[in-house]
Amino acid sequence: MLYIIDTADLEAIKHINEFYPVDGVTTNPSIIAKEKTDCIERLREIRRIIGEDKILCAQTLQTDAGLIVEEGKKLQEAIGGNFYLKVPIGEAGLKATMELKKLGIGVLMTAIFTPTQALMAAKAGADFVAPYVNRIDNVCGDGVGVVAEIVNQFDNYNITSCRVMAASFKNAQQVNDCASVGCHIATIGPDIYKNLISHPLTDVAIEGFNRDWRSVYGDKQILDL
Ligand code: E4P
Repeated sequence: MLYIIDTADLEAIKHINEFYPVDGVTTNPSIIAKEKTDCIERLREIRRIIGEDKILCAQTLQTDAGLIVEEGKKLQEAIGGNFYLKVPIGEAGLKATMELKKLGIGVLMTAIFTPTQALMAAKAGADFVAPYVNRIDNVCGDGVGVVAEIVNQFDNYNITSCRVMAASFKNAQQVNDCASVGCHIATIGPDIYKNLISHPLTDVAIEGFNRDWRSVYGDKQILDL
């Protein structure tokens, strides 16, 4: 499983990038707008924090295939490194994806809600598809079920050029369920990271180790021996 940070908040990115084995950052227009700052400069700052090799995704706002391609070229040049243009699924998005692939620009096809959208995106050449788990759950759908179906269909057709990057998580259980169905990547908001690694019994276990040690060795540390 690759872990991606779904935010443009620099402090959150610095923290998670330092303490967790993450593989990149995704943004979308809502995430960028929340920061109320220069979009390109913010993406460059994110690139500086995570380095050239990690995935960085920025989304197009264009609805015309030619303009999507132009925006992809501009963003790739401005941000550099391991960059992917997020393109919403649709006719213009598919056409743009086929063009972008010829130019060697990576694509994350986003706003995926059904397996049929994902399969078409993969065929057009998208590197990743992003099904929106929680938004599907919100309308009484089965977000993880959709992810599972996409993973299965990619397996059935031996599609290895496109990976499933599940998105729109609201809790750690959704992330766990996606991992259980073989989802390749999860892009997760900063608030959820701690919940992926915390457990009250872990805290109890660590407190017990410390208590037992102190009862014999006091404040002496292994480094003092
Ligand atoms: C992914 O990159 C999506 O843009 C994002 O995860 C959507 O999340 P939301 O449903 O919390 O807005």
